[in-house]
Amino acid sequence: MSHRCGFPLSAFTARRQALLQYVGESGVAIIPTAPECRRNRDVYFPFRPSSDFVYLTGFAEPESVLVCVPGRPEGECILFCRPKDPEREVWDGYRVGVDAAAETLGVDQAFRFDQLNEMMPSLLGGRSRVYYDFGEQAAWDQAVLSWVRAVQEKVRTGIRAPDQFLALQAYLHEARLLKSTDELAIMQQAADISVRAHRKAMTLCQPGLHEYHLESALMAEFLAGGARSSAYASIVGSGQNGCVLHYIENDAPLNAGDLVLIDAGAELHYYAADITRTFPVSGTFSGEQKALYEVVLQAQRDAIAAVKVGALWSDYDACAVRTLVSGLVDLGLLKGDVDNLIERKAHKPFYMHRTGHWLGMDVHDVGRYKLDDQWRKLEPGMVLTVEPGLYIAPHNEDVDERWRGIGIRIEDDVVVQEGEPWVLTAGLPKTVEDIEALMAHGSGDS
Ligand code: GLY
Ligand code: MN
Ligand code: MN
Repeated sequence: MSHRCGFPLSAFTARRQALLQYVGESGVAIIPTAPECRRNRDVYFPFRPSSDFVYLTGFAEPESVLVCVPGRPEGECILFCRPKDPEREVWDGYRVGVDAAAETLGVDQAFRFDQLNEMMPSLLGGRSRVYYDFGEQAAWDQAVLSWVRAVQEKVRTGIRAPDQFLALQAYLHEARLLKSTDELAIMQQAADISVRAHRKAMTLCQPGLHEYHLESALMAEFLAGGARSSAYASIVGSGQNGCVLHYIENDAPLNAGDLVLIDAGAELHYYAADITRTFPVSGTFSGEQKALYEVVLQAQRDAIAAVKVGALWSDYDACAVRTLVSGLVDLGLLKGDVDNLIERKAHKPFYMHRTGHWLGMDVHDVGRYKLDDQWRKLEPGMVLTVEPGLYIAPHNEDVDERWRGIGIRIEDDVVVQEGEPWVLTAGLPKTVEDIEALMAHGSGDS
């Protein structure tokens, strides 16, 4: 098999080679995949491998671990996986199996998953450093410690036991933060599928339907595009539900005169899209809705313009906050001097989250936001979301009643590059005019 998860096999080999280089000859790296999760009784959630593991292997079967042992003559990259089992395969489907795993995945050796306890102590023996992310899965933490203890019990034979434990993510999550051209191509595809899904939901929307009708349109489009899952539970919040940041009930009726906020993105080949649009249920914004919407849209545009190579991570958030606060002052929702209002965080009742996050294999992707306690600088190949919003709580007595219960967010996915930022989700209408045109005539291209 030459292509796995949308990438050539060589992409995974190169990632493992870089990891071996980082770990060095006196270290060992251990990367287990995610556990299978029970939903209820004997029903399991669809299996989703851990992003770190799939980034290094392209392998999506449960019960597998990658162990990297630099300089080991018999093989440096070892995969432990499930053996072939014709009977289980009748029920659960194909397994690559131990014999075919090395060639299929390009690793050096493969062994059965149940050989781990027997083999790991000897793989750790003689090495000083273990690279492993403690705190993710308690069962693996215990297993790693038990293997180290097994080596310690043999030190009288002259074998060295590891005595340094290092987080692998210091390396791996920084590697994942900078996306390759191939990764960006997949993220563009995930974005394209998600754009089509949002368009479908917008054109379908009308009073009398429920939020879940829009969710079903989104999911249908994700699946039809080859994305087997959403990247996170879709948020479809109409009316004041748009003010609940993580609203996922999605079961309320869509009422004429309300806005509906959709935050949804497909996952393709384990890469996420993350898009939010807010639009009127009946196709036309009211005066108050439009006034607030224009403020959020301007904040989003200003923030996107601040996504530049060399800018600080915090710059685009600061930019969005400034535009939101001056917009709130113009509309009379806040009173006072803009700098002073920002200084005392007067916008928090209306804008309580930050303007974005890293995006990649995980929707809130890995990678540090600060280096040496300072906001880091943006570099080409980083991908982030730009998602300002305004949420006027339904019970906020400090503002005129006509504003209450309006929740608006606009979110796009942006690649940092030299020159203008690359907006992966630019194909989805976001001006008032384009949204109203799309909803009226099924065309919203500007
Ligand atoms: N959909 C989650 C977020 O926007 O951060
Ligand atoms: Mn989102
Ligand atoms: Mn987001």
